[in-house]
Parts: sequence; C-alpha cells; structure tokens
Amino acid sequence: MTISTIERLNPFISEVIEDPYKFYRRYREEDPIHWGVASNPRLPGAWYLFRYEDVMQVLESPKFGREASKVRDDGEGAPVPAAYKGFRSMVGNWMVFRDPPDHTRLRSLVNKVFSPRMVENIRPAIFNIADSLLDRVQARGEMDLVEDFAFPLPVMVIATMLGVDASDRPMFREWALALQHASASRLTPSPEVYAQAEQATWGFIDYFKQAIGQRHTEPRQDLITALVKAQDEGNKLNDEEVLATCIHLLTAGHETTINLIAKGTLALLRNPDALNLLRSHPELITGAVEELIRYDSPVQMVTRWAFADIEIGGKLIRRGDSVGLVLGSANRDPARFVNPDFLDIQRQDCKHSGFGSGIHFCLGAALARAEAAIALNVLLNRLPELHLLDEKVEWANNIVFHGPKHLHVAFREPM
Ligand code: HEM
Repeated sequence: MTISTIERLNPFISEVIEDPYKFYRRYREEDPIHWGVASNPRLPGAWYLFRYEDVMQVLESPKFGREASKVRDDGEGAPVPAAYKGFRSMVGNWMVFRDPPDHTRLRSLVNKVFSPRMVENIRPAIFNIADSLLDRVQARGEMDLVEDFAFPLPVMVIATMLGVDASDRPMFREWALALQHASASRLTPSPEVYAQAEQATWGFIDYFKQAIGQRHTEPRQDLITALVKAQDEGNKLNDEEVLATCIHLLTAGHETTINLIAKGTLALLRNPDALNLLRSHPELITGAVEELIRYDSPVQMVTRWAFADIEIGGKLIRRGDSVGLVLGSANRDPARFVNPDFLDIQRQDCKHSGFGSGIHFCLGAALARAEAAIALNVLLNRLPELHLLDEKVEWANNIVFHGPKHLHVAFREPM
C-alpha cells in the first residue's frame, strides 16, 4: 500500500482500541502525519501524528493550543456544547483546556500547593491504602483488579489529599466517569451522555462548595485548605476556578492512574521474565513504572488546535485544524526507542511522552509515579502466583484514557 492510498484512520472504533499498536506501526511507517476521522463528525477530519519527534515538537510549540475559540468561529471545537451550561463553564476552568495567560495563572497556584513534599508526605498513606485493599480480597484468592484495587486506590489517595471523605468514592467515580465520557475520548457524545455530565457537574459543585465553605471557617491540613489559602493570599483565582480545580484534580488522576496500575499489571503478567526480575529486585520499580508508561501508555492521545499554518513532515497543517498527538505511538517509535515493542524494565533512556510535555506536562506525574510504584510492589509482594483468570481482556470504549474494563486475576494465599 502506498502513502496516498492508506485508508483514513478512525481511532475511536473498537478494533483500534483493542490493539492500537498494530495500527500505529502501520501509520507511523506509511503516513505518519495522517488526515484521519475526527472525534467530532461535524469536522471534516483531524490530523494524527504518530512519530515521537513530531509529537514532542507540537507539545512544546506555542503554535498549537487548547482554546478552539481562538481559531474557529463555528463553535465546533468547544469541549462541551453551549446547552450544557454548568458542565461547559466548569470544564472551561480546567487548566488542561486553557492556554496562557489563564493556563499560567491557574497552574502556578496549584503548583504551589501540589508540591513534591506533599507527594512525599502522602507515601505512607498510599502504602496503607494499598495494603487495606488487599486485606479485603486476600482470602478470596481472586479479584477484579480494576474494581477491587486499581480504581479505589487513586481515588482514596486524592480524596485523602483533598481532605474529602474517601468513603464517598462510589459517588466520585460515577460523577467522574460521567464527566470523562462527555469531555474526552470518543465520537461526539449523545445528548444523554451530556445530560449525565451536566448532572454530575452539579453533584460535584454542591459537594465541593460545601467543603470549600467549611475550609474558610475551619482550615485543615489538606489540599482544599491550601487552595483556599493561596486564593486568599494572591487573590488570583476566583471561587469558580478553585471549585473547578478541586474537581479537575479529583478526576484527572482517576482513570489515568487506574489504567496505569491495571495495564502495568497486565503487561507484567504477560511478560514473565520482567515480572520475575521485578519480584526478585523490587528496587527496580521506579524504572519499571517508567517503562510500563512507555510500553502501554495510560493516556494514548492528547489533542491540540493549530494556531497558525505550519508544515510538519511535508504536510501542511492549517490554522484551525484539529491535531491528535498519539502518545501511545510516539512511545513505540523505533526511531526513538531501541526495540520499542519489548518490555524492558531496565531500559536506559526511557524519556517517554506518557505524561505529555511542555506547559501542560502532567501536574500529577510525581503522585502517579508514587502510586503506581507502591501499588505494584505491594501487589507483587503480597500476592504470590498472581495470574490472569481470563487471557481475553475487555477494553473500555475509550482510546484516550485507554484501559481494561475489568481484569480478573487469581493468586494463592501466602503461607
Ligand atoms: C495533564 C497523563 C495522573 C493531573 C496530563 C497530560 C497527560 C497526563 C498526558 C497532558 C495533557 C495534555 O497535554 O493535553 C497522566 C497519566 C497519569 C496522570 C498517564 C497517571 C498514570 C495524574 C494525577 C493527577 C493529574 C494523579 C492529579 C491528581 C493532571 C493535570 C493536568 C494533567 C491537572 C493538566 C496540566 C496542565 O494543563 O498544565 N496528565 N496523568 N494527572 N494531569 Fe495527569
């Protein structure tokens, strides 16, 4: 097949979601700057970039940004249609959807409170949470790793950091999933999906309004208090922005970290040499987590709008075009990584794009790394003979936040 006849890729169909890497390889080799099917069917198409170098160039370039309204006057680039007012205005306050100067303002305040020290301080709590989750399943000899471990862990951790009640997590998950289904990921959502997101937004707003109000009168040692204090000191964030930031933090580290723990475990179980090496050398965990993010990235794609005409790899990307940066493909690019389809937990030079790059580089990367390292070490340490109960994995219908719906595993109780 020649470059000009390769078919337009639709990355939102189940065939791609189930095994994206074979598609990535083909497009990377045959048409690395590809005009494929856009997630919004009212757009004529979207560019998809598959090579590491191109992906990094766009992530770090001010010629690409997040606010479609700057370059499109048809309203088609907005993350949420105008009819869903609460959801639209809340998501509009998420730093990930903003460009400078608003992005800089939102991020700098959160950067102050979401510090490396805060992550260090939370490590013992992460251990305890991981242990307590395994206490509940250990005697059973099997579990759904997603539902029983990978999901509750990051939600309990971020709830603890924010200072909200971790036992409210089923509600958080329902709301977070409703937001995520409607704001990222797939072909344009149906009105029902948007209506659910609107409802979830109001649930979150009521919940956090109350918590924020309380912190004004009774400060505590938590992230909400830190945000409120920083707001009072610098007066740089309005109340809606603080509220949206709390919701953003609760949801951003949610499906991403779940998928890192779930797909990380899956990759290790499918690569017994790497698994055995890690079991016998738990000190390799830091490098192993980086490699797992590279090997099967929890976020497979991020998007940008072109803010100017620009030529990349001989193709002209026009101002106002949508551009999908396929992180999952960049991280398997043989031009950047030696033997990229091999899981090598001792890989040197593993500078992947799994947390993005440039001004939107993942704010929670240090937390996610700590959570995954602790979760995987506790899991391997406590559950001997961990194995898959079903080789066939059912994938969630999402190429952006990519991961299994369930992961049924079994293990034996230690003597
Ligand atoms: C941004 C991945 C965990 C908070 C991002 C971006 C990626 C990413 C790729 C860049 C988005 C873009 O460029 O458009 C991940 C992965 C995670 C993870 C793979 C886990 C394995 C977390 C956690 C938190 C978090 C635990 C916080 C609790 C954020 C925020 C942004 C972000 C706030 C927006 C930053 C900005 O726009 O400046 N993440 N993330 N993430 N992430 Fe994460």
